[in-house]
Amino acid sequence: MADLDKVKKRIEQLKAIINYHNYRYYVLDSPEISDAEYDELMRELKQLEEQYPRLLTPDSPTQRVGAAPVEAFGVVEHPLPLLSLGNVFSNEELQAWFTRTSKLVEGQQFNFTCEHKIDGLAVALTYVNGQLTTGATRGDGFRGEDITQNLRTIGSIPLSVTKEAPPRFEVRGEIFLPKAGFKKLNQERAEEGLPLFANPRNAAAGSVRQLDSHITAKRPLDIYIYMLGYTEDKVTPPTHWETMEYLKSLGFKINPNNALLTTIEQVEEYHRIWVERRESLPYETDGIVVKVDSLDLQQRLGNIGHEPRWATAYKFPAIQGTTHLIDIGISVGRTGTLNPYAILEPASVGGVTIKQAALHNEDDIRRKDIRIGDTVIVQRAGEVIPEVVGPVASKRSGQEKSFTMPSHCPVCGAEAIRPESEVMTYCTNSACPAQVQDRLEHFASRGGMDIRGIGESQSATLLKEGLVKNIADLYDLKDKKEQLISLERMAEKSVVNVLSAIEKSKDRPLSRVIFALGILHIGEEMAEVLAKNFGSIDRLASASQEELLSISTIGAKIADSIIAFFKQEENKDIIKRLKDAGVRLEEEAVKPRELPLAGMEFVITGRLEAFSRQEAEARIKNLGGTTKDSVTRQTTCLVVGTDPGGSKLTYAQSLGTEQLTEEELIQLLRQKT
Ligand code: IVH
Repeated sequence: MADLDKVKKRIEQLKAIINYHNYRYYVLDSPEISDAEYDELMRELKQLEEQYPRLLTPDSPTQRVGAAPVEAFGVVEHPLPLLSLGNVFSNEELQAWFTRTSKLVEGQQFNFTCEHKIDGLAVALTYVNGQLTTGATRGDGFRGEDITQNLRTIGSIPLSVTKEAPPRFEVRGEIFLPKAGFKKLNQERAEEGLPLFANPRNAAAGSVRQLDSHITAKRPLDIYIYMLGYTEDKVTPPTHWETMEYLKSLGFKINPNNALLTTIEQVEEYHRIWVERRESLPYETDGIVVKVDSLDLQQRLGNIGHEPRWATAYKFPAIQGTTHLIDIGISVGRTGTLNPYAILEPASVGGVTIKQAALHNEDDIRRKDIRIGDTVIVQRAGEVIPEVVGPVASKRSGQEKSFTMPSHCPVCGAEAIRPESEVMTYCTNSACPAQVQDRLEHFASRGGMDIRGIGESQSATLLKEGLVKNIADLYDLKDKKEQLISLERMAEKSVVNVLSAIEKSKDRPLSRVIFALGILHIGEEMAEVLAKNFGSIDRLASASQEELLSISTIGAKIADSIIAFFKQEENKDIIKRLKDAGVRLEEEAVKPRELPLAGMEFVITGRLEAFSRQEAEARIKNLGGTTKDSVTRQTTCLVVGTDPGGSKLTYAQSLGTEQLTEEELIQLLRQKT
């Protein structure tokens, strides 16, 4: 017995010593002992744990080496969505962001935290009772992949925190592969004849999304934590900067280049300095992130769509290079657009190999006078697809050829037309395989119905074999199991998986369904606006142009596109079939809440004097009410501020919706609080 106690003690001691050296090595980049000494400690610990398996705990440093491969990643629901960031590209745009933000907080002064925007992969790490329990990718912002096993192999991620911490909390950060590690990895891959990674971000993403965590463990991945997410029993500091200091004290790795600044001019300076020094950094960064430091103000400023109002990315200028334009290719999009793209002689631009680049549209090619055979300037800016800036006319030989848009679709051969007033040319055949395939892929994509197992190649096969002609046909596949199994590369197991993924997709939120339908000009954010405002597909489908236009973020282009979509017989039929198949086409019923404004829906028009619109909305929501952007029959009250816009008021008057002045709203809020 005494012996076992001794062993236990020694194990605890070794774990503490090794954790300390891990921290020195991975987080502080300042080791105190040699690799050999470290290895010796690890060997001793491993041996003891093998001898006394009961004493092995999941937070032991020996458990970082990787676990048995998994077949697929599980799904993690994020307790708070992972947001993305808006961008600014110049000091003027930064000033405009600052002015807008200051106005929203009524001139209150605030500090900024500035950080590098690391070009890697966002992850959320959850700790329960001090132990790392879950590590997840960003996914669509709401649901990510469970990559805990892989993240456990990254030395700079603490497996447990020893200091007092909230019982449950989540930190977020960026996983990245340092430039040196990337170079080495690609060298090794070249030697082994494996395909090379295009850039460190892809390499990092590829490394953490390995089903076999032993592979992840071999990659020199690193992390910087950049925010605290969900916390239980919040006793954390009042500012972002102090929160980072606090997280540092818990053992998390925080970028030492972060800065706490007091004026927007200092932010400009921080940006300027790092534009000059970015090449010397050990990691890839495409800009800085400017954050309002006060968490209270962050809360007040809130988000717009997927982006916080309290932060923005100030991007570094694009990196340019020149190469040869071999040809102009045409791809056909989901909506039938013929999209020209540049086929380039592979060239390295800022360390990334570029073979293709965006050319936008015919007019743009003509305006820039880009000719096939030209030497062209290409530019890469962060995560966006590289684009052709223009030709180097002085390098012309005279052999270059101008580009003309094909008169027929390169995929199905149908006539292609360019409607007047539009810049794009469209294939006129809505059954064009390229369109159908793209629509199918889009429908099944992550941001859409998220049907795992229906990607590019499966969509192509299903179409080719005639098993599917449109998106609704996916829900009939369950009766065609035998035929599916007979397809190439479709073993019974994967067929079962695909069918179950299709079944699961029936319960996606309405906004995802709207996005998945692939209506022209409707992206994820707009789909959310539509779901929120209309609540069901049927109500959206019957919305009048006036009703659509009364929503502040909807313009004529979007309204027309929605109306045109729901007018088409084929689309009507698809929606009917989706409904019959049991796809949820309504917002989930909200649980009734016993709050004083429960069931009341408010719309605000015009400027409010006593508080910002965001604050007013937040107060209404706190009392159980809901707020919408536009007036519908469901609206309980229209709050009319100063200089109200025309459409909401007129429409409310025509519906007889109750109106409140700002004064009356304040009274109502006071009464109900
Ligand atoms: S803050 C809510 N800070 O950039 C604010 N993000 O476009 C969003 N990123 O997916 C996160 N470095 O993964 C923040 N210092 C930093 C960052 C950073 C890189 C990534 C992040 C996110 C993307 C937002």
